[in-house]
Amino acid sequence: MPSKIAYLAAKRSLEDRTLDRGVWSQFVAGLEDRAEDSLRIVEVGPGVGSMIARLASWESFSVPVSYRAIDLDPACIDAARTQLPAWLIEAGYTIDNRADRIVATSDDGQRFEITLETGDAFLESDEADAVIAAAVLDLVDLEPALSDLRGLLDDDGLLFAPCTFDGATKFAPSHDIDDRIERLYHHHMDEIRDQPGSSTGGRDLLRVAPEAGFDVLAAGGMDWLIRPHDEGYPHDDAIVLEHLLETIGGALEDYPTETLDPADLEGWLDVRHTQLECSELTAVVHHLDVLLETGAR
Ligand SMILES: C[S@@+](CC[C@H](N)C(=O)[O-])C[C@H]1O[C@@H](n2cnc3c(N)ncnc32)[C@H](O)[C@@H]1O
Repeated sequence: MPSKIAYLAAKRSLEDRTLDRGVWSQFVAGLEDRAEDSLRIVEVGPGVGSMIARLASWESFSVPVSYRAIDLDPACIDAARTQLPAWLIEAGYTIDNRADRIVATSDDGQRFEITLETGDAFLESDEADAVIAAAVLDLVDLEPALSDLRGLLDDDGLLFAPCTFDGATKFAPSHDIDDRIERLYHHHMDEIRDQPGSSTGGRDLLRVAPEAGFDVLAAGGMDWLIRPHDEGYPHDDAIVLEHLLETIGGALEDYPTETLDPADLEGWLDVRHTQLECSELTAVVHHLDVLLETGAR
């Protein structure tokens, strides 16, 4: 199975292609509207730093950006410290790698000051103009998490939550037990895994946001579409697909044999792995990209 780090790095390119650009544009315009002397962004669960790299590569702001990224997993933060300078150099930045931060400056004067920290971002963040939580809000208890994030933001702060899983994991070509595999996989997210979270995180977020003091500014579908082209899978999409199959397999192993015969699971996984190796497997995984703004307290 590809490591979590390899998987997170691989999905950067897939998400570059699948993010809802309308929601992204509103987020970036909202950041610029809030830019005074600087922009303070906190990222919850940055993984290997893909969102920082994306923002620095795609956008430019009229003020310096102070970017605090906090992940629970020290392996992610170590990987981000290694990977991010290379991604920023590729995007045209000059890097000053200091003991406590990465300072990235572009030729046209854009400056990012980035701190990468290990910890619980819901407890350890400080005030920000915007919070980013990419592929995170489907992994937490949503109501307390939103309440913590509301506390970090001023009255017109932004919360950008792209890639929030939203209840569809489909494969082609079809297989007789696809529906059962999908149902049990999603039920595992909702009821069985140790971690909190939900298989309908995107829709839950839209429902819970107003009660938590947020207005919904924009929302759109973000489907990972992973499909083979003439020469196999583009970019690192095969790594993402392999990780998805292994994640489903790992989750479904938790069911008792009366619920899912291990031979059925093994048979399904064998077929899917063979199709992946032969570049014949397509997957569609549905998420929502959501942009929220804090309302008056
Ligand atoms: C699915 S990964 C997404 C990583 C990254 N945002 C991306 O989209 O590539 C979720 C990340 O959230 C982190 N995470 C989960 N709960 C967290 C918390 N309470 N504080 C900080 N990080 C957290 C995990 O360690 C993991 O790296």
